[in-house]
Amino acid sequence: MKEETISILKKYHQEHILEYNLTEKQQQQLEKQILSINFEQLQKLYENTKQAKNIDKKRESEEKKIEHIAYTDKAKMSKELEQELTNIGTEVIKQGHYAVITMAGGQGTRLGHQGPKGTYALDTIKGKKYIFEIIIDKLKKAKEEYGVAIPWYVMTSKDNHEETVWFLEKNKYFGYEKEKVKFFKQGELPLIDTQGRVILDENATIKEAANGNGGLFEAIYKNQILEDLKKHQIEWIFVSNIDNILSNFVDPLLVGLTIKEKNVIASKSVAKANPQEKIGVFCKINGKPEIIEYIDLPQEMAEKVDEKGELLYGDGNFGTYLFNQKVFEKLSTAKLPYHAAFKKSGYLDINGKFIEPDEPNVYKFETFIFDAFSQYNDMTIMRVKREDEFAPVKNRTGNDSPETAVKLYNEKYK
Ligand code: UTP
Repeated sequence: MKEETISILKKYHQEHILEYNLTEKQQQQLEKQILSINFEQLQKLYENTKQAKNIDKKRESEEKKIEHIAYTDKAKMSKELEQELTNIGTEVIKQGHYAVITMAGGQGTRLGHQGPKGTYALDTIKGKKYIFEIIIDKLKKAKEEYGVAIPWYVMTSKDNHEETVWFLEKNKYFGYEKEKVKFFKQGELPLIDTQGRVILDENATIKEAANGNGGLFEAIYKNQILEDLKKHQIEWIFVSNIDNILSNFVDPLLVGLTIKEKNVIASKSVAKANPQEKIGVFCKINGKPEIIEYIDLPQEMAEKVDEKGELLYGDGNFGTYLFNQKVFEKLSTAKLPYHAAFKKSGYLDINGKFIEPDEPNVYKFETFIFDAFSQYNDMTIMRVKREDEFAPVKNRTGNDSPETAVKLYNEKYK
């Protein structure tokens, strides 16, 4: 390896890489990768994992004003208002100012499917349906309803990009206009072990993983998707998770409500099933909208109710957001905080043997899309019925599994 590369490895305590017995070709490819990695940032992230506990304590003691956030319950809206807002949103869609982004860059480790989550097939009352196909069914239905083929942007990651494109090509985009579909790759960060060292993958490259769904903002900018949105005069962009097969992502009512409330960010929510449910909830922290994760919500607050007996922190986030194009402009270079997760990951040992550990062994760093909400003073929240819009495919079995999601899907479409 070149002196420059060796000195980088030494400076950031990554000399173990030099001990691997690699072919010339492997060395060259590794060298190229080393020069592209921001080791300074990685070192800071590693240091944060060690300080996490102290920081948490410090944060606890900090004066944090947590308050309830206002929401609109779709079920309680008057028919007149619902119609008025729907008309506003319908106009936006019909004029071609609306697009949909599906975040499909995740690894889907809990589901354990070989391949991108969108290529997972479910047995539904409408027959065998791939998750991608379920999304396209809705886009096709919207086209019939509004007379416009809504642009669809799919965020992928290095791990699943090629397979995603190949799958949709092979299936001829399930009958949707190919030119309306665009793919863009999100960024990645190396995984590091408990000593802050990068690990190697089977092919002797440094193992990296997608940098979380907060990587959306940077990816939109770097892949010229922002330019594309501007070029096509798209004003409102609905962003949702790949794995919610009931996601109602063409929603004129939400657009109308957000416009009426003069906000640029909106999200749907579902009422928490019970105070203990493991779902992040919307709130305001120091006056700004945020999601508070269930582990960070003290029990007493989780159980707090208003005068009508409703949970004060009862609006669960299920990953369905609406953004004005201006938000992407502003947040394209925003620095969102990284969250470290301790995960299991296979690695190449020094003897060239691939090891699959039984226990978590590496830190993965991710940013979350909702951490961007606090850059604004307010956002629109529309509460919807869970059975209408939320059927996640997260786990292999049990809760939020293909079985529970299909049950909800069948119930809705029966
Ligand atoms: P999850 O938090 O459920 O993660 O992502 P995941 O990777 O899909 O699944 P597990 O945790 O490994 O089992 C929520 C949404 O965010 C997307 C996912 O594809 C999903 O739609 N996501 C997540 C990204 O697009 N990129 C990421 O880096 C992480």
